Amino acid sequence: MRADQHLLLVGMTGSGKSTVARVLGLRLDRQVVDLDTEIERRAGKSVRRIFADDGEAYFRELESTALRDALADDEAHVIAPGGGVVVSEANRALLRGPRARVAWLCADIDTLVERVGRSGHRPLLDDDPRGTLQRMLREREQWYREVADVIVLVDNRSVNEVVEAILR
Ligand code: S3P
Repeated sequence: MRADQHLLLVGMTGSGKSTVARVLGLRLDRQVVDLDTEIERRAGKSVRRIFADDGEAYFRELESTALRDALADDEAHVIAPGGGVVVSEANRALLRGPRARVAWLCADIDTLVERVGRSGHRPLLDDDPRGTLQRMLREREQWYREVADVIVLVDNRSVNEVVEAILR
């Protein structure tokens, strides 16, 4: 990875992107941009509230703008977008761009269900989390693969093991 390239972590909700990003930020001495947090800061409300008040389409617009802005920063960051960032072809084009290096944190469905638990801040998982995750994974897998420079299997691995695998 070049010094001017952002390191992005993509993967399903529950794959550990935010936690792994925090550790990578410390290891690489880079600022961590958690895209959902940035979206919440700009909107002045939680992701759940944005979905409820303004709808998913509006959230996706905010997400695309936040992604574009983060990638445009001169300083290279560790960026953790939400799991749905790959649904948009325009976002995938940004992720394939010259200043992005992308690691896909790849987890199987049992790991995802276990990790997502009852965290409550994910509006898309309110009903039937396992079924929804399964459907999302089937749909998105191809897109994670399309944008990934490396694929890191996270099942049964600690945060530090995942970080080491990405750095290697
Ligand atoms: C979403 C994942 C969430 C968040 C939003 C939508 C998705 O982020 O962006 O609830 O479509 O998978 P995490 O992947 O951090 O849970």
